[in-house]
Amino acid sequence: MLVLGIESSCDECSAAVVEDGRKVLSNIVATQIPLHAQYQGVVPEIASRAHTRWIEGVVREALEVASIRPDQLDGVAATYQPGLIGSLAVGLSFAKAMAFALGKPFKGVNHMLAHLYAPRLAGDIAYPFIGLLVSGGHSIICRAEDFDRIDVLGTTIDDAVGEAFDKVSKYYGYGYPGGQVIDELAEKGDDKAFRFPQPSLHKGNHRYDLSYSGLKTAVIHHLDDYRRQDAEASPENIAASFRKAAIDMLLTKLLLAAQDTGINRIVAGGGVAANAYLRRQLASRGDLEVHFPPLALCGDNGAMVAGIAYRYFQRGESDGLDLAPQSRVPIYKRGAGGEKTA
Ligand code: KG4
Ligand code: ZN
Repeated sequence: MLVLGIESSCDECSAAVVEDGRKVLSNIVATQIPLHAQYQGVVPEIASRAHTRWIEGVVREALEVASIRPDQLDGVAATYQPGLIGSLAVGLSFAKAMAFALGKPFKGVNHMLAHLYAPRLAGDIAYPFIGLLVSGGHSIICRAEDFDRIDVLGTTIDDAVGEAFDKVSKYYGYGYPGGQVIDELAEKGDDKAFRFPQPSLHKGNHRYDLSYSGLKTAVIHHLDDYRRQDAEASPENIAASFRKAAIDMLLTKLLLAAQDTGINRIVAGGGVAANAYLRRQLASRGDLEVHFPPLALCGDNGAMVAGIAYRYFQRGESDGLDLAPQSRVPIYKRGAGGEKTA
C-alpha cells in the first residue's frame, strides 16, 4: 500500500511517500527556519503563507523522488492536530483535495501520535511501551497500548522542553532554533559549572508532570545564583549545565513511569528526541529497551504521517472531507481538562 503523508503543522513543509507503513520511498522536508530566524521564533502568518506557496512543489517532489504517479497512491494523509491552525489548514486542505480528485481515501493524523510512530519506520516495536514525546510545543510521558491509543501519564505544567531550549538560546543569542545549537555547544562544556534546581512539583496523580519555566528563568535571570565556585559563564558551560538539568528532569519522570508500570520498553519521538545527551543517557541503560527515531525523523516530517496513516487504512479507517484542523488537544496540556485517553 502506497500512502502520501503531508505535514504542515508548524514550520516544516513536508511530504513523503511510504510503502506499507515502513519503507520510506521519499521524504521531502522544506524547512522555513530561514524565514523565521530573524524573529527568533515561528511567526504563524509567515508560516501559513509559506506553506501555501510551497505545498504543491513539495508534494510533486515527494512523488517524483518516489517514482510514483498520483493514481498509484492508495491513500492520502495529513496532520490535522495539534499545531498552528493556519499552517495545519494548508496541508490538510491540500491532502483532502488530492484524495477527492484521485478518488482515494483520506486520513487526518494526530501530530504527536505520528512522532511516536517515527521509530516504527525503522523497525517493529511491541506494545505496550512508555512513550516520551518531546517537541517545541509538547512534553508528554505516556503509556502506549497501540499506535493510536495512548494514556497521558504526565505532561508539562508550563513550557515544553523544546521551547525552553529555544528561549534560553534566544535570550543569550546563541542561534535559532535553540535545541540543536545548545546541544552542540553543550558537547564542549562542563555540565557541572552551574547546578540548576529541579522543580518541586505536586505529587499524587500528577507525579510524572514536568515543568520548565523555573529552569528557564534560573538560566536566564539568575544565572549567578547557581554558578559553582569559579566556573566560567561561557556559552558552552551554560549550555551543558542547562541541557543536563532539562534532560535529567525528563529522565527522572520517564524512569519513574517505567518503574511504576513495570514497562521497560521506552520509545521517544519529537524534535528533542535528537538530543545527544538524552540519547546517550537512555542508550546506556542496560535494563531498558530503548527506541529512538533516526535523527532525520525526529523533527517534523511527512514520512511519520504516511507511516501511521497506513495503519489506519489497513484497518479500513478513513476520515470525511469535513475534518477540520485543531490547534490544541486538551489532554496534552495540564489544566486544560478533557479525558486522559486519546
Ligand atoms: O517536533 P519538532 O520538530 O516540532 C514541533 O512539533 O514542535 O520539535 C522542534 C523542537 C524545537 O524546540 C527544537 O529546538 C527542538 O525540537 N530540538 C532539540 C534538538 N533538536 C531540535 N532540542 C534539544 N536537543 C536537540 N538536539
Ligand atoms: Zn513535531
